[in-house]
Amino acid sequence: MTADTYVGAIDQGTTGTRFMVFDHAGQVVANAYEKHEQIYPEPGWVEHDPMEIWENTKAVVREGLSQNDIDAEQLAALGITNQRETTIVWDEATGKPVHNALVWQDRRTTDRVEEIQDEGKVEWIREKTGLECDAYFSATKTEWILDNAEPLKMEASRGEAVRDRAENGELLMGTIDSWVIYNLTGNHITDVSNASRTMLYNIREMEWDDELLEEFNVPRSMVPEVRPSSDESLYGHTDADGFLGAEVPVAGALGDQQAAMFGQTCFDAGDAKNTYGTGSFYLMNTGNEAVESDHGLLTTIGFQLSGEPVQYALEGSIFITGAAIEWLEDVDLINNAAQTAELASSVDSTDGVYVVPAFTGLGAPHWDGRARGTIVGMTRGTRKEHIVRATLESIAYQTRDVAEAMEQDSGVETTTLRVDGGAVKNSFLCQLQADIIGTDIARPEVDETTALGSAYAAGLAVGYWDTVEELRDNWQIDQEFTPQMSSDDANELYSRWDDAVEKSLDWAQE
Ligand code: G3P
Repeated sequence: MTADTYVGAIDQGTTGTRFMVFDHAGQVVANAYEKHEQIYPEPGWVEHDPMEIWENTKAVVREGLSQNDIDAEQLAALGITNQRETTIVWDEATGKPVHNALVWQDRRTTDRVEEIQDEGKVEWIREKTGLECDAYFSATKTEWILDNAEPLKMEASRGEAVRDRAENGELLMGTIDSWVIYNLTGNHITDVSNASRTMLYNIREMEWDDELLEEFNVPRSMVPEVRPSSDESLYGHTDADGFLGAEVPVAGALGDQQAAMFGQTCFDAGDAKNTYGTGSFYLMNTGNEAVESDHGLLTTIGFQLSGEPVQYALEGSIFITGAAIEWLEDVDLINNAAQTAELASSVDSTDGVYVVPAFTGLGAPHWDGRARGTIVGMTRGTRKEHIVRATLESIAYQTRDVAEAMEQDSGVETTTLRVDGGAVKNSFLCQLQADIIGTDIARPEVDETTALGSAYAAGLAVGYWDTVEELRDNWQIDQEFTPQMSSDDANELYSRWDDAVEKSLDWAQE
């Protein structure tokens, strides 16, 4: 390691793509970001254009490097982190997608999921994958694309049905990490943490599961090779003649929530973090044991370092938190996210209003794809300040739902919860969160822990950092929030949240 080498991280998220460069102390050297279009062809359907994502990826990498006159040669390694589950199918010969990406929030396969549930296969799937049988994951999304994508008119496809082309071994599938790695290196690879989100990967046997591939009609030739999250043998190199003009090793990948856990240095069993992005994802490291959940959590792969056993995690996946704040902006209740703290603190309470932002169904611990958003308790005196406050409170309540489930499943009481993601800049929310769950909340100095985690994974693989101990020293606290509300008051507020959730469950029509 020399003083002027860095590690780069591509963070391809739900709303946009970020490129960050970190130095050896884990400090930010560059940060570039670009949003991409959210495509909603029908209610409950969410798509992204994979080519736009790839173009934006190149653009943010170039822009990030130019911010500090960094030469691509100075990058010791590149790490990838990504919105998980979002699924792309592309043509191996041309590298072109056969359909838009089906985003993790997309509910179009809910009917198919209910069919599988009715066939009594829920436990069978959970045993193999650790997951709830839900449209959230990649399996039914891949199946949908193969059965429904319009045959391409391009010459290579000759208008042949997409499923036939998949059966002929002409198409590849992957989550966003695979798509980015493929475009960077030409290799079709995913890491264990992303594979564990497809509902096609057996997290105990650590391999693609033939029975699941058959159940979801996904030809085995389509799935990527699965590698450790931090891989000394490297996923590949960027092309010296490509957009970077240098051969940079691509050496680490993690689903964004696992990356945040890694960036928060939750390396030991019992360490927990919650990330407040589009949704919120509360993960607890459970070490080498895949702990089963009885309370609606997922058992998932946390990460794997080269040559080491896999580390598992329990996860509470909350689909909508930051996106609820975006919705407030969309409907003109606020001008920007920062305003929520000011508006929410201008009233003492929500005056009995509860917002349940179940816009894309509810994830953990309810797992109800037909739940829909609800506002209850409004009176003639309800003002926008109450609705804004109730929206922030919904983030804290949903987190308490999964925090309680986590404690029951793991038997571990979390005394300090590490938090990160865009919304934790909002200190009002952090304090509210501490109050509602009665736990200390620790906000680190570098709150972009998702990108940091994937940089760590890539940097460890190439020896930029030698051990995880070195990384622990980089974790510095910015502010700690301790509970100030009495537990009686918190419990009273929380008890009506359950009633509000009841109203939102199972709302969508067949
Ligand atoms: O599982 C979905 C999750 O990975 C999305 O994260 O940060 O893009 O909302 P984010």
